[in-house]
Amino acid sequence: MLIAVGSDHRGLEFKKFVIQCLTELGLESQDFGSFSVEPVDYPDIAGTVGKAVVNGQCNFGILICGTGIGMSIAANKVKGIRAALCCDAFAAERARLHNNANIICLGAERGEEGVEDILGLFFSTQFEGGRHQRRLEKLVEMENSA
Ligand code: RB5
Repeated sequence: MLIAVGSDHRGLEFKKFVIQCLTELGLESQDFGSFSVEPVDYPDIAGTVGKAVVNGQCNFGILICGTGIGMSIAANKVKGIRAALCCDAFAAERARLHNNANIICLGAERGEEGVEDILGLFFSTQFEGGRHQRRLEKLVEMENSA
């Protein structure tokens, strides 16, 4: 499993911590920037990571900004992306079980507490399917009619 990781300048340091967590969890990652503290616009990074996930270059993505909110809004503009801002392990598990989320967004300013558990659950939980599949199909219809 290859995970695309991206952050804006506010998430730069936190991204290093996240990549370390992934290594500890035995997960491979590819860093799509940002690589410096120079301000960047989160939609640019979200677009790059989103495309890497939908075109199959990576299996999942992680996006980090100050709050995680901007990244989640931006990533969900990429057709085929289901990005979820997860502040705790419960949300991370549900985002996979019910929403088949393919990108997890994290807020650097929230801090590091519990992040390894959040990531561990997100990447080890399978989509439940069933009634949730029908709902995902409606999301695709929404994308196609927009
Ligand atoms: C950048 O200043 C900040 O707006 C960004 O990191 C993020 O928190 C946006 O949602």
